[in-house]
Parts: sequence; C-alpha cells; structure tokens
Amino acid sequence: MPRSAPRARRALNTAAIALVAVASLLSAARLAQACSGAAPEPTGTETHFPLMYGDRPTVAQLSDLGRRIFMDPAYSASGRQSCASCHDPARAFGPPNARAVQLGGPGLDRQGFRNTPSLRYAHAPIAFTQHFLESEVTLGVDDQGPTGGRTWDGRVDTAHDQALMPLMDPNEMANADGAAVVRRLKTTPYADEFRQVLSAPGENVFDDPDSTLVWVTVALETYEQTSPDFHPFDSKFDAWLNDKATLSPAEARGMALFNDMKKGNCASCHPSTRKAAVNRPPIFTDFGFVATGVPRNRDLPANKDPKFFDLGLCGPLRTDLAAHPEYCGLFRTPSLRNVALRQRFFHNGAIRTLRDAVAFYATRDTDPKHWYPGSNGKPGYDDLPEKYWGNVSHEVPFAPLPGGRPRLDDREIDDIVAFLGTLTDGWKPPRTGANKTVASR
Ligand code: HEC
Ligand code: HEC
Repeated sequence: MPRSAPRARRALNTAAIALVAVASLLSAARLAQACSGAAPEPTGTETHFPLMYGDRPTVAQLSDLGRRIFMDPAYSASGRQSCASCHDPARAFGPPNARAVQLGGPGLDRQGFRNTPSLRYAHAPIAFTQHFLESEVTLGVDDQGPTGGRTWDGRVDTAHDQALMPLMDPNEMANADGAAVVRRLKTTPYADEFRQVLSAPGENVFDDPDSTLVWVTVALETYEQTSPDFHPFDSKFDAWLNDKATLSPAEARGMALFNDMKKGNCASCHPSTRKAAVNRPPIFTDFGFVATGVPRNRDLPANKDPKFFDLGLCGPLRTDLAAHPEYCGLFRTPSLRNVALRQRFFHNGAIRTLRDAVAFYATRDTDPKHWYPGSNGKPGYDDLPEKYWGNVSHEVPFAPLPGGRPRLDDREIDDIVAFLGTLTDGWKPPRTGANKTVASR
C-alpha cells in the first residue's frame, strides 16, 4: 500500500535528467533483484553482511566482546561515558533522559547539536545513495531521492565506521586518537580475552594498534547487528501482526489514520506493512530524506549563533553534498518503533512530547505562529535560512484541507499517539488475554 503510492515527495527536479541515464543502466538489474526477492532493502533480523573471518573469531565471540565494549565507560576521556550512556538499553538504545542533546567530552559538559537516535532496528539500513530506485507494482523505476546510510544525515555507511565517530568526537567520548582507544582497551578485564580471540596464530593483535582499533569497531558492529537486543520485534503491534493481541479502539483508529493517505499519510515515509520481498515486520522508516521544517531548538549552544544552521544532508557535519542547495534541511526519516520511550523528538530535540510531535504535522501550516514563535511575528521555518524554504515538504499530512483546516483534529492526534504506543518493545499480553483482532491488516 503506502509505498506504492505516487510519491512526489522526494522527486527532485534537478535530478530528473541525470536520472534517465541512471535508470536505463540500472533498471534491468534492479528488476531482476526485485523478482528474485533480493532487492536492496534494509534488512530485518539477518546480519547486514556475511561475516567472513573464517573461524577466528566466531560471530558469538565478537558480539559478546562488542556488548562489553558498548557498556564500558573505559573508552571515554571522562571515564564515565559508554555507548550505553547515550544509547540506553533500557530505552531501546535511545537517550536515557529528557535532554535534547546528550552531554559528553572529557568533563561531560560539552554538547553537539543532535538528538540521540534509538539504535533498535537501525542496525542495517541500505548504504546511502542519492537516487534510491524502487521497482514495485508498476514495475517502473521510481526515484525516491536520497535514501539510507547512518545518522541523521546518512554520512556513514557501516556500523564500524560509525563507532569511530563517538569514540573520537570531542563532544562525546573524546579520545585523542585510535591509540588512546587501544590503551584503554588494554586496561579492561577482558583485554586478555580480546587478545586471545583476535590475534592471528603466532601473533599478538596488540602489536598492531591499527588492527586492534578495527576489531574494536567490528566487535561493536557485530553486537549491534546480530544481538536480538537490537531487533526483538516484540511490541504489541508485532503481537497484533501475529494475531496474538487486540488493538484498543483508539489504537485501531490511530493505525487507520496513520495509514490513510488523505489523513496522517505517515506510512508513506514510516512504512507500516510487512514487505513480502524481505519477509520481516515493518520498521516504520524507509530511510528517505525529507525537510519537515522542525522548529529551531534555541536551547542548543550551537544555536546561540544566529548564523549557525544544522542543514542535515548539505552540511555542516556532512561535507560531500555541500554543493546541493536542494538538499539543505533534509534529514533521514527515523524508525518510529519505540518512539514513545523518547522524551525529545526530531534531529534537534526541539519538540518535547510525542503528542506535540504528531500535532506538529497537523498544524505546522495552519498555525505557524504556534510552532515558530521566535520569528518576530513573521511565520516561517526558523531553523532553515529562507532561501531553502522551498525544500520543505508540503505533502499530506502537512497540506491543510480546503478552508485551511488541519487534516487531523485533536482526537485524531490522540488516536495516532495511542497507536504509536503499540510500537514499544517488550509488550506482555494482559492476563485476561483477549485475542480477537479488531482491524484487518
Ligand atoms: C554523547 C552521546 C553519544 C555517545 C556516547 C554515543 N553516541 Fe551514538 N549517536 C549519538 C548521536 C547524537 C547520534 C546521531 C549523530 C548524527 O546524526 O550526526 C548517534 C548515532 C549513532 C548511530 C547511528 C544510528 C542511526 O540511526 O543511523 C550508531 C550506530 C551509534 N550512534 C552507535 C554508537 C556506538 C557504538 C557508541 C559507542 C562507541 C556510541 N554510539 C556512543 C550520540 C552518542
Ligand atoms: C514526507 C515524509 C514523512 C511523513 C509523511 C511523516 N514523517 Fe515523521 N518524520 C519524517 C522525517 C524526515 C523525520 C525526521 C525529521 C527531522 O528530525 O528533521 C520524521 C520524524 C518523526 C518523528 C520524531 C521521531 C524521533 O525519533 O525523534 C515522529 C514522532 C514522527 N515523524 C511521526 C510521524 C507521524 C505520526 C506522521 C503522520 C502524521 C509522520 N511522521 C509523517 C518523515 C515523515
């Protein structure tokens, strides 16, 4: 359903000409892949790539070392911050608190400018591409525009490269260099095990700091990709998909609104249906990039400078697409699984409640003064220079109804929030256990 709908949202005019050439080169191959069920999809519970290290080490050994490294504050300059400090396992590997941006650095008093994403279901996005070509239903080739990669701007493709970023970021774990990471590893209780598992026969991996560092990041990657901790698929929604739970009337109404192309239309970017080709439950993101015009978060230190803007795909953290003004303001669509566990929303954490996050879609264009109060009475996307306002999406649900009415009223917003609550992992059936479904799938 929603994925096959005509999608103007990321059809970039500037890309159209180049596309014809790309499409003719790639369409046959893509179609063949689609037909064989091997389309380049974000994957589900399977690992992202086959691990080919022979029998040294095993995936289980690597994943286990990765878990211990992930939880261990030893790798931070402060000695007090681990990956888990920002990616809290008790909150679906998302932020542990209501800070828009987590603190870091040697004194745990520095801040970058991005909200911490949940790492659940983010273990295997497709690699970043400017032109995601999707063949479906029509068997035509449909350019979805920029898609995939890791982080809010898709600038990293693999989880091992990703792991280096927080380890070295002066606002996060703040290691001076790779050698510092290796020195810290050698002080941990599992250093000896690491050496035994990862040294080639007759060698000591610690003699080669570069390869030690690579193994640290590959261990983290293996943990993120293979441990069921990162993709349990055990929410109420999953139970409902498997006929093991009943949605409440509000949840069922919310789901219908979420999927309805004229109402929430949420599923056009946050897909909610099982994809036959990959046979995994939906992960509520298509990894596409969109400018939603989220309000500026004036509390962030970086934003004290009125000339500073986080423009996502076109910079400043990502530098390779700086020459593409049509990409300014675009951020990668996050998964909505476990979104109810978050206390800050969107890339800059400007929005503080899930209800407000949903209401933003409904009333951004009908009540702009509410969302952009600081823009001197002049309604406008205050976290984006005016020259890029044309990049902002005006599709449903943003597009108001005739007469300027929002597409979702207050009760409908509440219903969608209720539905999003079914996406939280770790659901247990109530003891009374009704198991009749109230809506079709
Ligand atoms: C100080 C908080 C902090 C710490 C510590 C931290 N991260 Fe992150 N993590 C973030 C933020 C913020 C982002 C988003 C970055 C961006 O968009 O530029 C992120 C993004 C990620 C992503 C990409 C997720 C996605 O949706 O694509 C992965 C994977 C990740 N972190 C893994 C790790 C690992 C592994 C560690 C430990 C080595 C770690 N992080 C430590 C804050 C943190
Ligand atoms: C046109 C594509 C698109 C549509 C339609 C869309 N979203 Fe989103 N959604 C995004 C993108 C992109 C982001 C991240 C934007 C950012 O942070 O700058 C996002 C972020 C969110 C977030 C914040 C998640 C987080 O981790 O911070 C929520 C909640 C959300 N969307 C819910 C919805 C709901 C509910 C609907 C339907 C009413 C909807 N979205 C429709 C693309 C879309």
